[in-house]
Amino acid sequence: MRPTLLFLPSQCLLCVFVGVCVPSVVGSLPHALPWHVSCPVRCVCQIKPWFSPDSVYHEAPTVDCNDLLLSKFPSPLPLNTHTLRLQSNLLFELDTDVLRGLPNLTDLDLSQNRFSRVRTITQSSSLPSLLSLHLEENHLSHLPESSFSSLPALQELFLSHNNLHSIAHGAFTGLDSLLRLHINNNRLTTIDPRWFRALPRLEVLMLGGNPVEALPDKGFLALKSLRSLVLGGMGLRGLAEKALEGLDGLESLSFYDNLLTKVPTQALRRVPGLKFLDLNKNRIKLIETGDFREMIHLKELGLNNMDELVSIEKAALENLPELTKLEITNNPRLSYIHPQAFLQLNRLESLMLNSNSLSALHRHVMVSLPSLQEVSLHSNPLRCDCLFHWATEEASHPHTERNTQSDTETARMVRFIQPQATLCSEPPELRARGVREVSSREMSASCLPIIPTSSLPSYVGVREGGKLVLHCRGLAEPQPVMYWVTPSGLRLGPAPSPATKGLPAPASCQAQDDTACSPSKHFRLLPEGTLEINKVTASEAGLYTCVAENVLGADTRSVTVGVHSRKKKGKGGMSANLKGFPLFSVDARLEVREVGQYYAILSWQSGHNLPSTRLSWQAIYSNAHTPIYTTRILAGTQSFNLTHLQAETFYRVCLHLGINEDAKHANRRSRESSQPQCVSFKTKDVPDPEPSLPLSPELTSTAVTLLLLALILLLLAGQSWDTQSNKGAGQLPLQDIKSPKALITIQNTQERIGHESKQNEKQLLHEDC
Ligand SMILES: *[C@@H]1O[C@H](CO)[C@@H](O)[C@H](O)[C@H]1NC(C)=O
Ligand SMILES: *[C@@H]1O[C@H](CO)[C@@H](O)[C@H](O)[C@H]1NC(C)=O
Repeated sequence: MRPTLLFLPSQCLLCVFVGVCVPSVVGSLPHALPWHVSCPVRCVCQIKPWFSPDSVYHEAPTVDCNDLLLSKFPSPLPLNTHTLRLQSNLLFELDTDVLRGLPNLTDLDLSQNRFSRVRTITQSSSLPSLLSLHLEENHLSHLPESSFSSLPALQELFLSHNNLHSIAHGAFTGLDSLLRLHINNNRLTTIDPRWFRALPRLEVLMLGGNPVEALPDKGFLALKSLRSLVLGGMGLRGLAEKALEGLDGLESLSFYDNLLTKVPTQALRRVPGLKFLDLNKNRIKLIETGDFREMIHLKELGLNNMDELVSIEKAALENLPELTKLEITNNPRLSYIHPQAFLQLNRLESLMLNSNSLSALHRHVMVSLPSLQEVSLHSNPLRCDCLFHWATEEASHPHTERNTQSDTETARMVRFIQPQATLCSEPPELRARGVREVSSREMSASCLPIIPTSSLPSYVGVREGGKLVLHCRGLAEPQPVMYWVTPSGLRLGPAPSPATKGLPAPASCQAQDDTACSPSKHFRLLPEGTLEINKVTASEAGLYTCVAENVLGADTRSVTVGVHSRKKKGKGGMSANLKGFPLFSVDARLEVREVGQYYAILSWQSGHNLPSTRLSWQAIYSNAHTPIYTTRILAGTQSFNLTHLQAETFYRVCLHLGINEDAKHANRRSRESSQPQCVSFKTKDVPDPEPSLPLSPELTSTAVTLLLLALILLLLAGQSWDTQSNKGAGQLPLQDIKSPKALITIQNTQERIGHESKQNEKQLLHEDC
């Protein structure tokens, strides 16, 4: 028999359960015994091992006439033939007389022949012992009423890979004992619930590979005994809430290779006994909170081979007390697993996460899985820094103090699958080293946010009036805050951190329900970083920038959104409206808001999202050549507190506006769109430390001035020496590190220019003032 399974090896979880894998066991059992009968020419007659559909072993008198190009039935057949194999011949008609003389015929294999009508097989030849009938790969196109009524004992019926496009609603009448029915890979476009009324004992149903786009409500209601249902490769786009209603005994379900865009949560709730679920190869983008809620018997779950899957959200898998194996592999865009994605999975032993785009697996994930024994993370672009600290060998030794007891125990017990292929790809100095070979000293304990390249495309098109959904994820330690900046420069997300309060607030909308800017829930920002905009208008096209920020720094990534007009006018009809996209002239007025002795607050308003904006400044002395410092301004920021200035000094500050350099749809010229805006100011004088100095009236005013000047100079010298020594020791007060919205790279402008074009800049505070 041809293998009729559609499964990949990883789906063997299903076949083990339903017993389909039994034939592979057969090979290791006793060989065939000789059977001394007069055998039809060219056929082989032997006593062979045989398993009944309920896996009972028999020694079966077997006539094997496979692959003989027979166009006529072989004869004479021995009377007590139990198994008759006629696979791969040219038969199109059954010799019913021959079969009628075989009262003990139990297994008949007619697969890969030329039968086009089922009546020619079953009519008038009652086969009271037949348990198994193979008709795969014939030319059947229709099953009439009562097609198999002469086979009252039949337990297995294989009809896959025919051309069946219609099945009479009573086609299976009389098959009261049928346990297994394969009608996968035919041309059925609908499922008729009436077919199944005649099959009260059916346990396994394979329906996959038929172009059925939607399952009917309660279509399987009659199948009270069904344990395994395979619906792979059908083109299902969604599942009605009641599609699986009545399948009370269902334990194994496969949706392999369909077009599902979400986990069919509602439908799955109707099959609470489910143990094995295969959602592989669908178009699911997110595994969302509560997607598998109440599936308390689930043991194994497959979420593999999904080209569009980007994220496993918080509490995506929660309270699955029986889950032991979870496979989330070969998902090229999957770059994010929320630290609390898996909750109350107390029995999970095996976690397969290889061949994704994961940069890390958060320590919390490991801690939350008390029974975990093995994890596979190879073939991922792993980042060997803080996020992987738990994985180093030392971290898994109990005497590593910084970890809590539970952390170390979790990490210690877990086995890495293919550790030699589990390699660091970041940072550069650790590239290609095995994750487990890197010592914890080499891995930093905290880290900057990184938004993985795979999480956001550079361009997204959306129809006018449609819904725009942009997923952006960033992992870091501490966990980053995520926000978005719209093309008009509006910041969508949590309010800026308190460190910047006092600065003129950037135009911003807060998550979820800030009614001021989302009167009709026009915008929605989920804390993990998904931005949703309902009913997008043409004027909302343009550059959107996602920012992930923690106390250490920030990462940004931009995406160009094109809004396609509804009217298909002109050629192509799909021209994106990029109106409002700041391709050319962008202006902003730079203003000095406040000047102190050692700082100055600058602000500007551009009305555009300018993700590659820079600020540069330089002290101006009449005779000295002073360095120019620059800092990258984080998208959505419209003011900046320039600190560590010198008192009583002239400064010139310039704002260099730039849109995203990397966006494919941006014009090169627009990299820095206009002349820098510059302003000059002078920092405040250091106040007189002793304003009420008792001066004798004899002193002339000139003398007073000289004395004061000397004092100030002394003070200044002291002050600047202090600052120097502080910095030399690397003891910047924490507040200083936090306060600028963009952490600062202070370098010579000249050196910076070459690096400006990187889309992703990780910024650190350098201390070279
Ligand atoms: C069919 O099987 C039964 C029971 O095993 C046996 O007694 C009988 O002889 C068989 N019939 C033929 C025609 O071999
Ligand atoms: C700007 O920074 C200076 C120096 O760190 C600080 O004293 C001042 O309060 C800051 N201003 C604002 C508005 O944050």
